[in-house]
Amino acid sequence: MVTKQHWEEVYSTKPSTGVSWYAPHLVHSIQLIERAAPDRDARIIDVGGGAGTLVDDLLERGYRSLTVLDLSEEALRVARARLGARASEVVWLPADATTAELPAAHYDVWHDRAVFHFLTDSGDRRRYVENVLRAVRPGGHVIVATFGTEGPERCSGLDVVRYDAEGIHREFGSLFRKVDSVHEVHATPWGSEQEFVYCYCLKLE
Ligand SMILES: C[S@@+](CC[C@H](N)C(=O)[O-])C[C@H]1O[C@@H](n2cnc3c(N)ncnc32)[C@H](O)[C@@H]1O
Repeated sequence: MVTKQHWEEVYSTKPSTGVSWYAPHLVHSIQLIERAAPDRDARIIDVGGGAGTLVDDLLERGYRSLTVLDLSEEALRVARARLGARASEVVWLPADATTAELPAAHYDVWHDRAVFHFLTDSGDRRRYVENVLRAVRPGGHVIVATFGTEGPERCSGLDVVRYDAEGIHREFGSLFRKVDSVHEVHATPWGSEQEFVYCYCLKLE
């Protein structure tokens, strides 16, 4: 698959700290997750977590039931290597978020930063949302961050769809209730700015 090859190439050729989406800590993600799921036994899946630092920060905060899913096996290898012995405390899933076979009604929190916006095909978006509907428990939390309407049109050389928070919620539909949204101006490692929007929804019971 072209997209998988693309991401394997990215993570094989660039350090995890040298990609535009890198942040030493995903501050807004951490805040929203702690608000949604203060219980450290909450089952949290970071979808398209890549080689990012969120898993480190959640382990550090005592979360015990973490899954990181990503298309790129190399990204997961980099994250595992960084965590060392603690990597064994995490479930690592090399998979495509639109086709992954995830356990039903399992997760308390579904988190995605900068992945959903790559789904330029409406069929892929529908399959992604169907996966959220299947895998998140009724009453569970869904946190999705994309480039905002003023954000870049491309990321990592790929086209993206830009959203405001209402637009993200619209993609998920009436089985989700929007709880809150957060606006972020992310600074890339080379100092340019990118607008992100975080949409926090509840999956209705
Ligand atoms: C821009 S990076 C964001 C990484 C991380 N979420 C962060 O914010 O640091 C996008 C990630 O999504 C992964 N990805 C892209 N399409 C995907 C898909 N359909 N299913 C799962 N992962 C995907 C890529 O491999 C990459 O790690």
